[in-house]
Amino acid sequence: MKSIDQIFENNQKWIAEKLAIDENYFENLATGQSPEFLYIGCSDSRVTAEDLMGVKPGEVFIHRNIANLVNNVDLSVMSVINYAVRHLKVKHVVVCGHYNCGGVKAAMQPVDMGILNPWLRNIRDVYRIHKDELNTIELEEDRYNRLVELNVQEQCINLIKTAAVQEAHKERGLIVHGWVFDIHTGKLIDLKIDFPKILSSIMEIYKLY
Ligand code: CO
Repeated sequence: MKSIDQIFENNQKWIAEKLAIDENYFENLATGQSPEFLYIGCSDSRVTAEDLMGVKPGEVFIHRNIANLVNNVDLSVMSVINYAVRHLKVKHVVVCGHYNCGGVKAAMQPVDMGILNPWLRNIRDVYRIHKDELNTIELEEDRYNRLVELNVQEQCINLIKTAAVQEAHKERGLIVHGWVFDIHTGKLIDLKIDFPKILSSIMEIYKLY
């Protein structure tokens, strides 16, 4: 357990390390950002976005919430997507879920979780859409892992439903990626979401651009 004092001490060390390598490090950082990636991941403390991707400050625009959801009426995530895609003009958008996700696990329990109910309902909806597949999986652990993957897939579809992503795909080839972080091994797994296929299958209903 770290104390607050320890955090500030760490910060001083971090500043010294950065300046030792490049005395203009922070001045350069302050000039602006042009990240190529937007990363939408889970708030889970074990899934540290920059760390697991090995990227530096300025390289990835990040949004994290419980169970990496792209909810149409969540002003926060929708603002992040709009800003990253339309203004920062990121080239890739990533939804990254993770095995052992507490949010996904909670959504599989028949329990009243108060304020979390409407949030977790998004995951229950993913379960309902893929009920036939999920119910053929015998082991609960396997079903849970598969729901993590399907949740990522559905959040990618939610991204593709947005006008910003549709426009950026058409105008400059923006791509949406679905990944899962395997917390047991540290590996990032690319679910290889078929962007053009999803796009063509949903445009009949969701075309905005
Ligand atoms: Co999680």
